[in-house]
Amino acid sequence: MEKQFKRTTVTSALPYANGPVHIGHLAGVYIPADIYTRYLRLKKHDVLFIGGSDEHGVPITIRAKKEGVTPQDIVDRYHTLIKDSFEEFGISFDTYGRTSSQVHHKLASDFFRKLYEKGEFLEKTTLQYYDEEAKTFLADRYITGECPRCHSEGAYGDQCEKCGSTLSPEELINPKSAISGSKPVQKETTHWYLPLDKHENWLRQWILEDHKEWRPNVYGQCKSWLDMGLQPRAVSRDLDWGIPVPVEGAEGKVLYVWFDAPIGYISNTKELLPDTWEKWWKDPETRLVHFIGKDNIVFHCIVFPAMLKAEGSYILPDNVPSNEFLNLEGDKISTSRNWAVWLHEYLQDFPGKQDVLRYVLTANAPETKDNDFTWKDFQARNNNELVAVYGNFVNRALVLTHKYFGGIVPTCGTLSAYDEETLQEFSAVKTEVERLLEHYKFRDAQKEAMNLARIGNKYLADTEPWKIAKTDLPRVATILNIALQLVANLSIAFEPFLPFSSAKLRKMLNMPTCDWELLGSTTLLKEGDKLNPAELLFEKIEDAAIEAQVQKLLDTKKANEEANYKANPIRENIAFDDFLKLDIRVGTVLDCQKVPKADKLLQFRIEDGLEQRTIVSGIAQHYAPEDLIGKQVCFIANLPPRTLKGITSEGMILSAENADGKLSVIMPEKAVKPGSEVK
Ligand code: 2FM
Ligand code: ZN
Repeated sequence: MEKQFKRTTVTSALPYANGPVHIGHLAGVYIPADIYTRYLRLKKHDVLFIGGSDEHGVPITIRAKKEGVTPQDIVDRYHTLIKDSFEEFGISFDTYGRTSSQVHHKLASDFFRKLYEKGEFLEKTTLQYYDEEAKTFLADRYITGECPRCHSEGAYGDQCEKCGSTLSPEELINPKSAISGSKPVQKETTHWYLPLDKHENWLRQWILEDHKEWRPNVYGQCKSWLDMGLQPRAVSRDLDWGIPVPVEGAEGKVLYVWFDAPIGYISNTKELLPDTWEKWWKDPETRLVHFIGKDNIVFHCIVFPAMLKAEGSYILPDNVPSNEFLNLEGDKISTSRNWAVWLHEYLQDFPGKQDVLRYVLTANAPETKDNDFTWKDFQARNNNELVAVYGNFVNRALVLTHKYFGGIVPTCGTLSAYDEETLQEFSAVKTEVERLLEHYKFRDAQKEAMNLARIGNKYLADTEPWKIAKTDLPRVATILNIALQLVANLSIAFEPFLPFSSAKLRKMLNMPTCDWELLGSTTLLKEGDKLNPAELLFEKIEDAAIEAQVQKLLDTKKANEEANYKANPIRENIAFDDFLKLDIRVGTVLDCQKVPKADKLLQFRIEDGLEQRTIVSGIAQHYAPEDLIGKQVCFIANLPPRTLKGITSEGMILSAENADGKLSVIMPEKAVKPGSEVK
């Protein structure tokens, strides 16, 4: 039997306050969290919905430096913008706080201090790159230089995006600070580490045995982390933006952003409820649910629980429903490439249509796999589902009531067998929607709610009350009474999903309350009650509006391509002899597999004409290994061998890189003999 809880604390990932929010954020985290919370509230369950901005971390400081403003200026700007966007989309937080608040600084600092005093950290001194000009230690990402493998410029201290190699900053040739451009030096620094390895045993039991019900994507990711073996993680950084490490001699060090951010959920609760916050975080009868995106899984399922356990007085999450990613028109959403539908821009272009976006993003939610948002689908779901099914049913029921009964709820007479059947079908849906919502299946739950509208629509189409108005008005009264009860039910069923439309509908129905327990009732509206004038619940979206959005994206794509070309101009001429030095060959892929513990690498076995060779290539995120077996590829055959993750790679497979970073392997247009030269 599932555990019964007294109350539920719902959290949704705190977005970084260094940019606006887009549809990917809404679809991945905030809409599902909001549906869940609204549903629990409607059930009169005690629930608290916590949100807020994540205002620390290196990217915020870099952005501030670039703009010549303070990090506080940056977070102030985006915190407000993000908060407003959420409000406008009806994300019904009980509180939306921020991690630069004093309450948060104190709570996070005390949390660290308690772990420190309990001896829950390791202290380690290591060498790290330091920018003497900017007087700051450099995160790996902020050191750039020449890649030691493919020799392209602009590789990062953690990775070369050109060849996909995973790097460490010491390996870069001519390393430069991304902040001042100066050459960084190595300097000793001390940090505190959370020894996750010590937590491995109970984490294994707690996740892999006790939480088999977690979504497969979440469970699977946790399992692969646990199977790889957990390592101690640094929870402090050398940085001047964040919460100072509350330990003597730790000047210039702050808590790592991923240490303080999840504590933000707690401090935002404390700020809202200074006297009673603890029951939401410490009482075992409280259910804690974290809504997050898939890139946050390890932090919420492994690191934060380890912190909470080490502290000792907190509960652990009961579930961590995490979505996969939403793509936009086939490409990954990207802030830096402006490939996104920004919420504030959507509202300018589609004022008042919050629910349309909420509906489409839930209908297409990336619950089990990455999904794609397209404007065509947006239009089709609006026109064919919201307008043609839901809106049409509501409108017909209301308009006919106004026409035949002056807007008064008519009297229900004797029910026909078909009436009974319809009502029965309708009332069964409640249990199903509940079951789905309670199992975090929001897409299917909304589909069920939409089925109610379909039942209603079909009922009116089948009974055709307009045809018998002249001959049998009492029957028309019964039909419309039933139809109106169904409409009233829809306003309840859709309340978690489409709150704006439900409110509008209740206003038309003159229905002051919305009680989930009454879902399925056939007496929501009383005979003789007066309705308000009918308005359209949804409007058709015309082709022109969609074309304008598609054009906007095409313009973005074009601008990106131009910028890419400018940033990547044709290099200067080389001597023909230099070209001849390159030995490029065609080989047939005999075998291809993922390299363990390296999410970017594939290991190839290549038939090269003479013998076979092994090549490791950083394209694992662009190809499934089985799709490449049997294909012919081009590779550089005369590079000195190098070792990647313990595998000796004898060559480099050639691929072309798209503006969006996607790689496409170069293949001969016709099959050729393995070992053929490319000239
Ligand atoms: O990935 C992100 O956008 C993080 N700012 C999420 C933080 S969630 C929580 F820990 F606060
Ligand atoms: Zn490289």
